[in-house]
Amino acid sequence: MSVIKHKIIEEIALIEIYNPPVNAISAAVRVGLLETIENLSLNEKIRAIVITAPERTFLAGADIKEFGKKVDAPILGKICDKIESLNKIVVASLHGTPLGGGLEVAMSAHYRIAAPNTKVGLPEVLLGILPGAGGTQRLPRLCGVDMALDMMLTGKHVPAKEALSSGIIDEIAKNNNTIDNGIEYAKKLVKEGFRPRPTSQIQNKISDTEETSELILKFKDTASKKYKNLFSPHAIIRSVEEGLKLDFAEAILNERKLFEECIESPQRQGLIHSFFAERANTKIPELKEGKPIELNKIGIIGGGTMGTGISMAAMNAGFNVIMIEQNDEAIQKAKAKITSTYDRSVKLNRITTEQKNKTMDMFSATTNFSELKDRDLIIEAVFENMDVKKEVFVKLNQICSQDCILASNTSYLNVNEIASVVDNPSRVIGLHFFSPANIMKLLEVVVAEKTSKDTVSTAFNLAKQMRKVPVRSGVCDGFIGNRILSKYLVGMYHMVEDGASPFHVDKVIRDFGCAMGIFQVIDLAGGDIGWATRKRKAPFRHKDDRYVQIPDRVCERGWFGQKTSKGYYLYGENVDFLTPNPEIEVICEQERKRAGITPKKFDDKEILDKYIAAMVYEGTKILSEQIALKPSDIDVVFTNGYGFPKWRGGPMKYADMIGLDKILKNIQKYSEEDPRFWTPPKLLEDLVKQNKNFDSLN
Ligand code: 3HC
Ligand code: NAI
Repeated sequence: MSVIKHKIIEEIALIEIYNPPVNAISAAVRVGLLETIENLSLNEKIRAIVITAPERTFLAGADIKEFGKKVDAPILGKICDKIESLNKIVVASLHGTPLGGGLEVAMSAHYRIAAPNTKVGLPEVLLGILPGAGGTQRLPRLCGVDMALDMMLTGKHVPAKEALSSGIIDEIAKNNNTIDNGIEYAKKLVKEGFRPRPTSQIQNKISDTEETSELILKFKDTASKKYKNLFSPHAIIRSVEEGLKLDFAEAILNERKLFEECIESPQRQGLIHSFFAERANTKIPELKEGKPIELNKIGIIGGGTMGTGISMAAMNAGFNVIMIEQNDEAIQKAKAKITSTYDRSVKLNRITTEQKNKTMDMFSATTNFSELKDRDLIIEAVFENMDVKKEVFVKLNQICSQDCILASNTSYLNVNEIASVVDNPSRVIGLHFFSPANIMKLLEVVVAEKTSKDTVSTAFNLAKQMRKVPVRSGVCDGFIGNRILSKYLVGMYHMVEDGASPFHVDKVIRDFGCAMGIFQVIDLAGGDIGWATRKRKAPFRHKDDRYVQIPDRVCERGWFGQKTSKGYYLYGENVDFLTPNPEIEVICEQERKRAGITPKKFDDKEILDKYIAAMVYEGTKILSEQIALKPSDIDVVFTNGYGFPKWRGGPMKYADMIGLDKILKNIQKYSEEDPRFWTPPKLLEDLVKQNKNFDSLN
């Protein structure tokens, strides 16, 4: 089927665009649209042209897959300019999500009518680019510089009503029938004698005044703090600011130049990789055949940090929750935590008191396990201890129905072993939420040996309902995320014992773009958790494994981080953010002496190289063992759960971008000093030999 169809109804020409799933503006759409418009413009009988995309949505933007490739087709900006220059009225009839290039096409039309379900936006910034088909110039003309910059810097979707009141659209239709809406509106405009109205000539909302300069300065100031590592937000502001001083045609050329700079930037590659990786995560074998079961009632065992967060995530998605705790005191504590979180949301105007009360009505807590008998899904979040977990699952096996799904939120433990204590292990799965679970997007879905396809499908469905980003993981110690974290954490301990300062390490990681340094993360999660894990693993440690005792010395002093007001950093009301605990350097010195190590100096590059190498090292092993099915899944885990910058694509994409040969060379160099920790992974060697990258495995 042709991507562009058109028909003529009396004096109105109707253009229909069909490019499923979201009518992205591919080369074929651009070629067809330009040709159709040029032909229709020659037909003197036609008084108005209506542009529609009748299926799922009006054009959701340029075809992202084409970025960075050489494509033989007119650029979208040229088509927008052509549409705007027509001497017949052009109406864009919108519905769904006219985003990016889609909204740019709509803004180059002379009038815009939108179905009530419409949300418009210019989300290019989320892909590391700027609106490159006139968007940075036409949007301010329609809604003013303030709103336009806000929309372009956040990428937010603006609902029809707000789009109408701000001038982005001209009318909201009564229903979602985009073809009829467009035709009727065009007929009305013709009948009432309206003329083409080029957006480029609208001037009343933009002016190069002192007031506008101040406004732009305000945006620059915010951008320098909020988007300090990013390229495209600053390019967006520049395009708007410089555009105000140029005539429209020059401003469009300037926008194009900045757009091309963004396209060339590695940030664009990283962000677009993240966009597709976050959609490829659900393409897993189990979902092809598995059928999700319907969930209504959820049971949560444990009301600590995770149990309370998961309960809120479940209630926010509309599930009824019963929580089980050990005693009344723990119940009261859990309830107080949940209530205070919702109270804060009310205070911040994120929800109303009525919504809070309605949500809290879905929650109850008890010490009585038998109340779980009508539940469809149980999520266990008790202490990280195999015996405690098994005891809970034995009880659940007796109380719950045989098809109630039983999930564990364990961070490291073997889900196969947990599943071994129930009669029907096909319904046992790991659901590894991240803290705070009501906020963090990542959900590792841990598929055990006997987990059924239906159970996996149900877990992915649950993630969708909870608006989480699910990633499938196999069973191993720490699954995808924590296993990789453990590797680079130990790698960084080695470096610190060799002479690096933990505060320098953290700074390098933050400068790279990560949300937090690794020692900050330890302080946030609680140093005691890692300490317990190290003790658990101590009996299995090989005698030749290098073991750094610095973190144990820190924990022995009771310094567990934020919760004890002291860890690697100091905390408290009058303490500045990121104030190092001065005693840490003393401990490091003592430990280096004890281990007989002469401290070396490390520069930023050496620290970053080792940090990345350790991640990629373990990521590669995880791929060889099929714990992660594809490299992009590892990227999704790190960008959604571990603060790795999305604009770097994730550790595996970043490795591809800097070159796997370089990473392998570093690993080979490190392995000369510590072959047990750094044996070069075979998969990495093979990829380098074959001149391939991780992307070839996606
Ligand atoms: N190009 C290519 N493919 C796209 C696409 C695009 N712009 N937008 C979505 N898709 C694909 C997705 O990859 C997915 O493919 P899959 O089924 O094979 O995984 C499919 O369309 C459906 O997408 P979603 O799963 O995201 O569907 P939702 O219904 O959840 O969301 C949406 C729909 C809101 C349109 C969302 O897909 C979205 O936000 N898309 C990106 C919109 C965007 O960023 N537009 C600007 C592009 S850049 C641009 O226009 C430059 C211009 O200024 C020159
Ligand atoms: P926590 O110590 O804050 O809470 C555990 C709760 O379980 C306590 O309130 C305790 O009273 C309760 N509990 C213990 N045994 C119970 C039983 N038999 N019946 C009912 N309640 C019982 O621990 P946290 O941090 O919430 O961790 C829970 C689980 O989640 C662990 O497996 C942990 O590894 C995992 N996890 C923790 C993360 C974190 O950042 N804290 C992140 C992801 C997973």
